[in-house]
Amino acid sequence: MSSQTNPIGVFDSGVGGLSVLRSIREQMPAEDVIYFGDQGHVPYGARSMVQIQNFSEGITRFLLKHDSKIIVVACNTASAAALKYLRATFPEVSFVGMEPAVKPAAEKTQTGKVGVLATPATFQGALYASVVERFGADVELFQHTCPGLVSQIEAGELDSPKTRAILEEALLPMLEKNIDTVVLGCTHYPFVIPLIEQIVGENVRVIDPAPSVARQAERLLEVRGLINPGSRDARVRFFTSGDSTSMKSLLPLLLGTDGEVESVKWKNDREIQ
Ligand code: DGL
Repeated sequence: MSSQTNPIGVFDSGVGGLSVLRSIREQMPAEDVIYFGDQGHVPYGARSMVQIQNFSEGITRFLLKHDSKIIVVACNTASAAALKYLRATFPEVSFVGMEPAVKPAAEKTQTGKVGVLATPATFQGALYASVVERFGADVELFQHTCPGLVSQIEAGELDSPKTRAILEEALLPMLEKNIDTVVLGCTHYPFVIPLIEQIVGENVRVIDPAPSVARQAERLLEVRGLINPGSRDARVRFFTSGDSTSMKSLLPLLLGTDGEVESVKWKNDREIQ
């Protein structure tokens, strides 16, 4: 049975989910969190659905083993490829997933033209198609997969010439089409918002879905009666399937705090040791 003092499980292919973790910490400072970055497999964006489903299942089992009371899939790609599968495989578990924020973008745009940045797997999935169908009917959407951007962010290159070139290639043609809103459909991308804002200028709104996902997680905890009643400052435990030293060195840059990172190994595509 999930108890109020158990942690929230959060995962991503790498450090991108830290943008969601940041919002969860702001929204619910009393909640413990277990964060898992699958850096042994990052990036997920060009992988097959089945592979992403297997990884997501293995990570979910790991987070449940560590008593997670709900699981936040802090990765658009894993949500697109595996959220439905996870809900079917773990019917007793509450999941919060990500979907590209086309809805708020469609509500706010003045020009009716919106840019969406996300990975190939996110654009190919049924989730994106359904978001476009439900909310994108009256707007023109311009999509770009920003090849290489996730790896740049994993390397802590938030402001390098190469990162800028990737973003310019995606955004400059969209600006020519007169977009006034950009949706960040990958949880890695909020870490380059300053650079994106330099490129698009102040008249283009950039939408980071993390705060609304954190609010959704809180609502879910409320409904389930699982809010931690404590007022102490909570603990975050970080795990990576990659190099713990490299994740540790990124925490101050991405989260503004230090932390210990524990390293774990995959036994096969579906099981973590
Ligand atoms: N953070 C990711 C997402 O939200 C992952 C991208 C990747 O691993 O390619 O889509």
